Amino acid sequence: MPTVSSNTRPLAETKSPIDMTRTMAPEVPGFREYIIEGLGKIATLPELSDIVQRHRFHGTTHDKAVAAQWLGRRLGTAPDSSRLLLTGGTQNILMILFSRLVPKGSVIAAEKLTYAAIGQLAMLAGVSVLPVDIDGDGMRADALEEICRSHKVAAVYTNPTGHNPTTSIMSAERRQSIAEVARRYGVAIVEDDVHGFITKYAPAPIATIAPELTWYMMTVSKCIGLGLRAAYLVAPNAETLAQLLASIPSVSAWFVPGLSAALITNLIETGAADEIARSISAEIGFRQEISQDILGPFGCMHTNGSSLHIWLDLPHVWTIENFVDAAAEAGVTLRHPNVFAVPGTEIKSNIRLSLIAPATRSDLREGLSRIAGLLQSRM
Ligand SMILES: Cc1ncc(COP(=O)(O)O)c(C=O)c1O
Repeated sequence: MPTVSSNTRPLAETKSPIDMTRTMAPEVPGFREYIIEGLGKIATLPELSDIVQRHRFHGTTHDKAVAAQWLGRRLGTAPDSSRLLLTGGTQNILMILFSRLVPKGSVIAAEKLTYAAIGQLAMLAGVSVLPVDIDGDGMRADALEEICRSHKVAAVYTNPTGHNPTTSIMSAERRQSIAEVARRYGVAIVEDDVHGFITKYAPAPIATIAPELTWYMMTVSKCIGLGLRAAYLVAPNAETLAQLLASIPSVSAWFVPGLSAALITNLIETGAADEIARSISAEIGFRQEISQDILGPFGCMHTNGSSLHIWLDLPHVWTIENFVDAAAEAGVTLRHPNVFAVPGTEIKSNIRLSLIAPATRSDLREGLSRIAGLLQSRM
């Protein structure tokens, strides 16, 4: 039977609650210095007032040239700048794509468990999301095909690398099968490569298999920091992107914030962005080891080893509600996993635990030990 680390304190002794809900990039050594240096450089630029007082639209020519090289590391080759935008974040891109790619009467398909914002963004865009079954390899191609046969699917949203919330990494073969289904049914692929730069063994994106169908998104939220509110979009081709832009020329809501764009471009050019991403991966590695140490012996943990969170299979003695309540009593804040369920999907026995929300490794140890105490109490 797994033993609980000695730093699990009885409830009476617990200090403030440990939040294990949200995932974000951890602060890492050197981060502060890189940001100070980058901001200092920007502060001396002759175009500082333009950066702050003018629109940077979807990035300058230089931003795009730098981004193309950087993204080329995930995409195999640098995409042509005419296919590339800097935007105000993945959520902004999704709002636009869901609104523009999905005609009335058509729907979006997505992994049946998905990023918590997808349902809300689809609601804002006035489109429905249909759940596609998943397995250990991510979205099932046969399930996608079944939905494409029976519905007018305009686009499939997928998060194949470090799937949120299950942490699965879609194999290269599965990516090929998903691309083939999308091609057969003329469905656009909206690929969210949010964890692409922090996942150790990430297969090439689906965008490399079906570039003609894929709207590829890479945010800086997880590999640098979410406060920058910025993400890149690579469109299937220059013409499709030009058409999209021509239909909403005055919508500045998804323009990239100028200061963020200037800083990100600087961080990429100096190599600091890579250093930060590497340090974030290393910190995740330490935190993954801690979680293996404490929860691994219970045999109920899913992770890919590079993930900002873990996904637990709760033993059947627990309902999700009981577990969330018991965790709150033990001083750990958890979110009900229904936030990840596409309507029509029921989650019976899983919980996501963020390894990053606890500020320090020792807070993480404490939080996980409290969770281990709960699991052990009903073995
Ligand atoms: C699957 C997924 N995509 C994207 C994001 C980030 O989106 P944004 O670029 O809007 O910060 C997250 C953040 O949690 C996420 O989990």
